[in-house]
Order: sequence, then C-alpha cells, then structure tokens
Amino acid sequence: MAELKRRVGILISGRGSNMAVLLQAARDPDYPASIAVVLSNRPDAAGLDTARAAGIATEVVDHRPYRADRAAHEDQLMARLDAAGVEIVCLAGYMRLLTPHFVGHYAGRLLNIHPSLLPAFPGLDTHTRALTAGTKLHGCTVHLVTEALDAGPILAQAAVPVLPDDSEAVLAARVLAQEHILYPLALRALIDGTAVSPPSGAALLNPLPEPPAASK
Ligand code: GRF
Repeated sequence: MAELKRRVGILISGRGSNMAVLLQAARDPDYPASIAVVLSNRPDAAGLDTARAAGIATEVVDHRPYRADRAAHEDQLMARLDAAGVEIVCLAGYMRLLTPHFVGHYAGRLLNIHPSLLPAFPGLDTHTRALTAGTKLHGCTVHLVTEALDAGPILAQAAVPVLPDDSEAVLAARVLAQEHILYPLALRALIDGTAVSPPSGAALLNPLPEPPAASK
C-alpha cells in the first residue's frame, strides 16, 4: 500500500482513454496516486461515462457560457479541483488553452500528455505532420505544463517507429498504445521524485519492450 496516495484531478474534453488508464493504475493499492475527480469542459465527453462507471466523481464545467472570459471558467475548474483536495492535475486530452492564471496556481504539479516527441510537433495534428515531415521516429511526451504551449519540462517520452505504409490512423494508434503505458509511469515518477526535469536532464522512461534477442 502506498503510504500516502496523492490526490489527482484529471481534465478531459473527449474520449478519455488516457484518463481510463490513470484510473486503472490508481486502483493498485501500491500506486502513489488516487483519482479524486474528473472534470470535463464538454458535457458530451465520452470519458465522463467511463469515469462514472468506475465510480469516480465527475463534474462538467462547460466553457461556453463563459465566452471569452477564460479566467472565470478556470476559476470554476480551480474551485472544483481545490474542493476535491486535488494536489496534482493531469490534462488528458483537455482541448482548451490554459492561461497563466491556472498554470501558475498548479505550477510544478500540472501534467500533460502530448502525442509527439516534443519539442517536435507542438500543437495539433501531430501524426499528420510527422508523416508529412518524413520523420522516422515519432512518439509521445508527458511534460509539466508552463505558459508556453507544449513546451514545459519533459518528464518522460516513448518513441515508436514510423513505418513506410503508415496512415495517420495507424500511426496514431501505435502512439496511443505507448501513451497508455507512459502516462501512469510518468505520474508515478513525478510523485516518487524519480522524474528529473531539465536542465539537469530529462528522465527517459521508454516503456517499449526489449527487442527479441537476435537469432543466430
Ligand atoms: C491523446 O492523443 C493525447 O496525447 C492528446 O489528446 C489525445 C487524447 O486522447 N493530448 P484520449 O481522450 O486520452 O483518448
């Protein structure tokens, strides 16, 4: 049993498959985090049903009534997270840009998973851009969130090959499988203090299995 599980809040906007693997990991008594609440800015996010089915508290804070007032929307998110006693926030497909107001409140304890090997391909459409660029190596990154988009200290990365006949969907699925391994590892590493942030050197927790021994 982990001595003290750290309370984690997860922000989603959609499918929630990364959220689901964090929920699954947190069921292990030895995992150092528990999921206190899942928040979505979209009432129709499929991940909400997954979280509810797992018995996790969910809340919807729809961004639309707030229009351009991002800080007011973020105040509501922060109020729900703080009320749930959340110490660490994990973004998991949360599709809203966060302002310095929110980022500053959770500085050093706000994580995101991004579907590329940052600093390559920050932003959207990462798989299509990787294919277009002809890169041979692609992957995913868990990083701390700072004010600059997809540019915070890297906690962990996992790499996958880009194969000659890959479509966007095939490549996305190959990366997503690694995201599902990487995010729980990176969260654990942050809590355990084994993830080292630059400039002293990014932790590289590549969960790819060892290649089979070469046959003679
Ligand atoms: C993932 O590819 C993640 O890296 C990106 O958004 C996607 C979310 O997928 N930030 P899901 O909602 O976790 O299934």
